[in-house]
Amino acid sequence: MCKLSCNLGVMQWATVVILFSLVCSVTLAEENDGTPSLRVLARSSVYNAGEKKAIYCKGQNLQQSLEWYSPSGEPVEGRSTKNTRVYVERQKNDTLLPLIIHSIKVEDSGNWTCKSGDLNETIEILVGEKVNISNRYESFEGEEGKSARLNCEAKGKPQPVVQWYKDIEVISDKSKKYVVRKKGDNYQLEIKDLNHQDTGEYVCKVTQNALRYYTDKRVQLTVQHKPILFNSDTEEIYSSTYRTEEVYAILNETKNISCSAIAHPTPTFSWSRRHENEFDEPIEDEEKVLTSPSGNVSVLVLRMHDENLYGEYKCTAKNPKGQASVVFHVTEGNKPNPPDHVSVYASNVSTITFNVTCSTCNMDFEEDKAPDPANLVVNGYSFELVPVRADYPPQWDEALFFDADILSPNDTLFTVGELPNSTTFHARVRTRNAAGHSEWVDIISSNIKTTSNAIKLFASFTVLFASLLAIGCN
Ligand SMILES: *[C@@H]1O[C@H](CO)[C@@H](O)[C@H](O)[C@H]1NC(C)=O
Ligand SMILES: *[C@@H]1O[C@H](CO)[C@@H](O)[C@H](O)[C@H]1NC(C)=O
Ligand SMILES: *[C@@H]1O[C@H](CO)[C@@H](O)[C@H](O)[C@H]1NC(C)=O
Ligand SMILES: *[C@@H]1O[C@H](CO)[C@@H](O)[C@H](O)[C@H]1NC(C)=O
Ligand SMILES: *[C@@H]1O[C@H](CO)[C@@H](O)[C@H](O)[C@H]1NC(C)=O
Ligand SMILES: *[C@@H]1O[C@H](CO)[C@@H](O)[C@H](O)[C@H]1NC(C)=O
Ligand SMILES: *[C@@H]1O[C@H](CO)[C@@H](O)[C@H](O)[C@H]1NC(C)=O
Ligand SMILES: *[C@@H]1O[C@H](CO)[C@@H](O)[C@H](O)[C@H]1NC(C)=O
Ligand SMILES: *[C@@H]1O[C@H](CO)[C@@H](O)[C@H](O)[C@H]1NC(C)=O
Ligand SMILES: *[C@@H]1O[C@H](CO)[C@@H](O)[C@H](O)[C@H]1NC(C)=O
Ligand SMILES: *[C@@H]1O[C@H](CO)[C@@H](O)[C@H](O)[C@H]1NC(C)=O
Repeated sequence: MCKLSCNLGVMQWATVVILFSLVCSVTLAEENDGTPSLRVLARSSVYNAGEKKAIYCKGQNLQQSLEWYSPSGEPVEGRSTKNTRVYVERQKNDTLLPLIIHSIKVEDSGNWTCKSGDLNETIEILVGEKVNISNRYESFEGEEGKSARLNCEAKGKPQPVVQWYKDIEVISDKSKKYVVRKKGDNYQLEIKDLNHQDTGEYVCKVTQNALRYYTDKRVQLTVQHKPILFNSDTEEIYSSTYRTEEVYAILNETKNISCSAIAHPTPTFSWSRRHENEFDEPIEDEEKVLTSPSGNVSVLVLRMHDENLYGEYKCTAKNPKGQASVVFHVTEGNKPNPPDHVSVYASNVSTITFNVTCSTCNMDFEEDKAPDPANLVVNGYSFELVPVRADYPPQWDEALFFDADILSPNDTLFTVGELPNSTTFHARVRTRNAAGHSEWVDIISSNIKTTSNAIKLFASFTVLFASLLAIGCN
């Protein structure tokens, strides 16, 4: 169609429009050659229960009067005190007979016929009832190991198509996890053997295509389960309820050990230190144990001011459903060497890319190699940037902080951002390994700055200009 419009000039367009209206008026024009005829001025269709409908039957040159017949074959009578819902309205000259139906019902479905002598026309009417879900938003607490049964009452006519979803995925009841049972109008979803991964939103989608109608019911399921501990760096879940993690620390520095849990209800954490064979030294000092605001991470802050602090620390997360523990085995690790070369490689309006190398660092990323505590692999760089203020030294405690991971020994370019535009920064960088950080290295360069938006503005100008040109051509 578009292609056509591009090739047609104004003149041709006018011709097309005129031709079109000619064709239309020919088909719309009614011939009246005196032969009797009859027509229902509506098509077979679907109505929603409760609506008011008027369906016209039109005759020409008729010998006998027009009549409407209900699906049961009874003639429809005129309006009277007894007959107020379904009736016909007779006109003076009997060429047009409307059938009036107030608050149409499902039982009105069927074939309605308009007749005059041998002439007749039938239309089929289907009356539907939209599904009305009484409680569209529900929440449900399930318990680990048990089943959850979520109801979706979807009464309607024609019978709706019902499909359950978890979040956005279709639930297939071919899997053993889910069963959908239809009990009357209830399309009940059973979720078996609940675990924490079943927590989420379950949506029962109800469609009545014939009525062009859609509705749904949403159930928020939360599963109560015992805590599951995991490594917050690797996101590896500790599958056994008791597990040991190696942790490296550097003398005279602070080591934060995170104990992360997935749990509902929110767990309480406890820490203890091993003496001899028992974890019998609880750590309760508020300065040493911090819990995240959301209550799912507890951090043990070890200030490693002396060697006696190396050892084993146990974190236990507990809720009414059960508990899980992890033991952190803290030993000495080496402080990594600082980077030996840093420069600014590039920058734009919101980021700066640095070229960082550390030739004396261990970058042997080979997997399955036992770590050497005296020479741990360097896993990244940390950057701090603070805007330059004339006559002030850098305020590092107000700095923006960025961690970058080294993914291969050949990786030397690291981009930091979001940064404010048109700004010059002081910057420093340090290396990072499993034990901690190197000393900071100040980045000496006058180029540590983001650009203004001018370049980008110019670019969009060019695009705009190009599109104007393109429009002109068309
Ligand atoms: C019949 O009556 C209707 C209105 O009642 C009118 O529009 C129509 O022109 C009349 N037809 C004839 C043939 O008299
Ligand atoms: C209406 O008539 C059509 C065509 O004769 C038939 O197929 C249909 O079953 C009829 N509907 C009902 C509800 O009787
Ligand atoms: C309805 O019209 C058809 C022809 O269109 C005819 O064969 C049939 O007998 C008519 N039915 C009735 C009940 O008049
Ligand atoms: C649906 O049902 C509620 C009561 O359960 C009623 O108040 C409401 O009017 C109904 N809505 C429709 C569209 O029928
Ligand atoms: C740790 O600090 C103490 C006292 O401040 C100092 O004597 C010791 O050398 C430091 N140890 C290391 C490994 O830096
Ligand atoms: C350890 O955690 C505390 C409190 O969240 C924080 O202030 C400190 O910077 C962290 N130290 C290290 C080395 O990550
Ligand atoms: C802790 O819970 C919050 C809020 O529920 C969530 O955003 C965060 O990802 C959780 N953190 C961990 C480590 O599970
Ligand atoms: C700035 O550069 C970074 C890294 O090259 C890129 O991801 C980002 O999209 C760029 N931003 C703008 C606004 O061009
Ligand atoms: C990064 O710096 C190193 C050391 O100066 C240099 O050899 C290398 O070519 C630089 N890399 C890039 C991508 O400029
Ligand atoms: C790193 O660079 C060296 C030499 O430039 C090359 O032989 C090696 O394959 C590269 N390694 C990776 C992981 O890209
Ligand atoms: C730069 O950042 C400021 C503050 O965020 C913003 O108001 C301004 O629009 C930005 N200017 C450019 C050129 O990007």
